[in-house]
Amino acid sequence: MTRFRPVRKAVFPVAGLGTRLLPATKTMPKEMLTVVDRPLIQYAVDEARDAGIEQLIFVTGRGKSSLVDYFDLGFELEATMEKAGKSRAALDSSRTTPGELISVRQQQPLGLGHAVWCARHIVGDEPFAVILPDDLMVGGALRQMVEAYNQVGGNIVCAEEVAPEKTASYGIVTPGETRGNLTEVKGLVEKPSPEVAPSRLAIIGRYILQPEVMDILDAKETGAGGEIQLTDAMAKLIGKQPFHALKVDAVRHDCGDKAGFVLANLAIAMDREDLAPRIREYMAGR
Ligand code: UTP
Repeated sequence: MTRFRPVRKAVFPVAGLGTRLLPATKTMPKEMLTVVDRPLIQYAVDEARDAGIEQLIFVTGRGKSSLVDYFDLGFELEATMEKAGKSRAALDSSRTTPGELISVRQQQPLGLGHAVWCARHIVGDEPFAVILPDDLMVGGALRQMVEAYNQVGGNIVCAEEVAPEKTASYGIVTPGETRGNLTEVKGLVEKPSPEVAPSRLAIIGRYILQPEVMDILDAKETGAGGEIQLTDAMAKLIGKQPFHALKVDAVRHDCGDKAGFVLANLAIAMDREDLAPRIREYMAGR
C-alpha cells in the first residue's frame, strides 16, 4: 500500500494533426497507424493497463472517432469468427469494459496543455497519468513511474538524455539532486536551444501529475510556438509539490516522425520469433 492517492486514470491526448506523417495521417489518425500488427494506441492502452490504470480518457478531435470505435466490441466480426471456429484471442486487449473508456473532444489543437485541460472534469480531484501514444515505450514505462510515485508522490515526468542538438524538440529539466534513476526537478524549459538548455534531460511522453495542474491550465497561457504548453503549467507546480524526473528502463520509439515509425516496426518485428527470421534474411540480402 502507498500513502499517496493511487493513479487510476490516464489521459491520452490524441487530437494532434500528425502533420509530420502526412499523407498517411490525412484521413487516418496517427494513433491508428499500425506498428507490426496493432495500432499505436493499442500499445499505449496495454501499457496503461499494465500500470494498473482503470480509466482511459481519450482527448480526441474531428476525424478521430475510429480510435474509440477500435476499443468497442467487434460484435459482427466476433460472432462470425466464433461461428467459423476461429480464435478471437488476437482481439482480447482491443476490447474495453463498460465505463473503462471515456472520450472528450478538443475542438481545436491549441497545444498539449490545452488537450490535457479538456479532460479536467473527468480527471476530477485525483492524480492522473498522461500518455502520448506516439512515444511507443517497450518495457513497462508507466508501471515503473507508478512504482516511483508510490515512493515519492507528487508529479513525475518520464525523462531521457538526448543529444545536445536535440534539446529544442523537448521540454528540458533543470536537475536537482539525483538518487538512482530519480532526479529532483528544479525547473522546466520548453524547447530550449542547445546554448540555453539547462541540461540534456528531456521529458518524453509519459507523466504522472497532480490535479492542481488543471487550475494552472485554466489560465490558457500560451508559450513556445503559440501553443498552450503542458511544460509551462507543470513548471508552476515546482516548489509547491514534489516533482521528479524518472529515467525508466524501457526502449522508446518516437513514432511521430517517419524514420522513428519505420524503426519501431523493425525493432518490434525483430523481437518476434514468428517474424524475425524473414526480416533478417531480407536485410542480409540488402
Ligand atoms: P505533437 O507535437 O506530436 O503534434 O503532439 P501532432 O499534431 O500530433 O503531430 P505533428 O507535429 O503535426 O506531426 C504530441 C501529442 O499531443 C497531442 C498529439 O495528438 C500527440 O499525442 N496533441 C497535441 C493534442 O492532443 N492536441 C494538441 O493541440 C496538440
